[in-house]
Amino acid sequence: MADIIVAIDGPAGSGKSSVSKAAARRLGFDYLDTGAAYRALAWYVLDRGITPEDTTTVLSSLDAFDYSISIDPREPVVMVGETDVTEAIREPRVSGAVSAVAKVPEVRTFVTSIFRSTIEAAPHDGIVVEGRDITTVVAPDAEARILLTADEEVRMARRSAELTSESAADVGEQLRSRDRADSRVVDFLTAADGVVTVDSTHLDFDQTVDAVLEVIARETTRT
Ligand code: DC
Repeated sequence: MADIIVAIDGPAGSGKSSVSKAAARRLGFDYLDTGAAYRALAWYVLDRGITPEDTTTVLSSLDAFDYSISIDPREPVVMVGETDVTEAIREPRVSGAVSAVAKVPEVRTFVTSIFRSTIEAAPHDGIVVEGRDITTVVAPDAEARILLTADEEVRMARRSAELTSESAADVGEQLRSRDRADSRVVDFLTAADGVVTVDSTHLDFDQTVDAVLEVIARETTRT
């Protein structure tokens, strides 16, 4: 098991994934994107023609959900069975379905146990784990716990710059409604006790990575 767990939570468009990946690379740590598991499940449910809101059928499909993710921060590959879904899980139809599956408590328990086994088996000295409930539920005892935030307009602008095919207004609306739905299930907008907030509103990417690395250095030398 990794000696150092770095837990990073935050809303959509906060730059969490790219910042977490960059921090993991700089530290020689592994990297776990937990949102990918919820996205892969949403992809799988849609692929099987299941309505994401049909909780009973979603739950009965979990047994056959064969999910794996690589934890290399240079090349995170997501597989469902033999299918590489790394790209497909970012499609808008999956983003639109993911909150419905992620809000089901049994799904969260199931997926959380996969995360814990992955963390347990991580081969390097440390692992950066990012999501919505890492600091509070998945790894509340992590050596460093960070909430990465940014003002909503900045988050929307960053996300629409990533997704060139969609209009900024559509992106903004999708982001807002997903955050609204997700924050009813997990509070990822306020820092829990002992969690350090990094606000990237006025920081560029490199400055945000540096700020996160500073927190990690500070928190891990204290423990
Ligand atoms: O970070 P992301 O946008 O890839 O996350 C996809 C969805 O998964 C998001 O709508 C919220 C959910 N999620 C969650 O509920 N808990 C996590 N630890 C990670 C993601």
